[in-house]
Amino acid sequence: MHVGLLTGGGDCPGLNAVIRAVTLALASDETRVTGIQRGFWGLLHGASRPLEPAAVRGILAEGGTILGTHNRCDPFRDVDGVDRSAQALFYAVDVLKLDALVAIGGDGTMAIAERFHRLGLPVVGVPKTIDNDLPENDRSFGFDSAVAVVAEALDRLATTARSHGRVMIAETMGRYAGWIALEGGLAGGADAILIPELSFDLEALVAFCRERESREGHTLICIAEGAKATGHGFTVKARLEGSPDPLRLGGVGAWLQAQLEPQLQSEVRATLLGHVQRGGTPTAFDRVLATRFGCHAAQLVREGRFGRMVVLRGADCSSVPLSDVAGRSRPVPLDHELLVAAHHIGTFL
Ligand code: F6P
Repeated sequence: MHVGLLTGGGDCPGLNAVIRAVTLALASDETRVTGIQRGFWGLLHGASRPLEPAAVRGILAEGGTILGTHNRCDPFRDVDGVDRSAQALFYAVDVLKLDALVAIGGDGTMAIAERFHRLGLPVVGVPKTIDNDLPENDRSFGFDSAVAVVAEALDRLATTARSHGRVMIAETMGRYAGWIALEGGLAGGADAILIPELSFDLEALVAFCRERESREGHTLICIAEGAKATGHGFTVKARLEGSPDPLRLGGVGAWLQAQLEPQLQSEVRATLLGHVQRGGTPTAFDRVLATRFGCHAAQLVREGRFGRMVVLRGADCSSVPLSDVAGRSRPVPLDHELLVAAHHIGTFL
């Protein structure tokens, strides 16, 4: 059997751990594994390399992806709008003669993988995103690592907030979902946590900061890049043509600083955490979760159960049809226990 493996979308801590697990788990069978380079771009440009156990030695704790990735390549609608899926299929089926493809990626990658599966390429998906926003899946690898970075950043920003009597704002990633800001904010003891699922009232936030100015002297705010004040839209940083999800959010922290500063006595500073949340070595939790996902994907390949994405449900790995996932996301439910907890401890939401 010949299995292709690719990583699509943004990089994420734990990708190499999945690559390693799939390669090692299939190595014991009569199976050859080939890594497709830079995601679906590699299928379009004939870029691949053999993956043998020796090639994945020592990569468990390494950040990023040894295969490279590309977040602007959708073979069904490449940068110039042309559908090149037949060309990609030709390389996968006729040149490489793949019997299966394991696609590790976020929602964009899963949507593309699902379309290839419908065209007859047997595909297994593995969910990857620091945003933790893939449907049907309780936890994606990379999320825990991102949350750890946010928590540490808030710990550090709190030092300046307390010493200078300032309002310190940390802006997290997460796109249209608030998981990173919510969990990171709780872990870092943020006084206010602002997420996309709950538009916030700017005047109420000013009043909250004023009250803290007189009582505590400082405020720590954790804001998701997709958060918005009531009556305002998303803060968009850029538009990347050719990307399955072209809008790049960013800058709402700086926007909030500009809104708050004229209305408060304290100085306000905003820090954009950006790609620091996505880089570097995965936490132990993410290494284990990524290894479990990789082994489960290999098992699905062995059993010939294609068109499915690996998921974590409660404590167990299982899988769901890719068609249940493609084109959907997983926002924080408004009755989520973490939101309730944040509310109980007096966090501004
Ligand atoms: O989906 C992961 C993510 O890191 C988002 O949280 C963020 O909005 C986006 O990717 C950034 O993408 P890029 O690296 O293309 O700017």
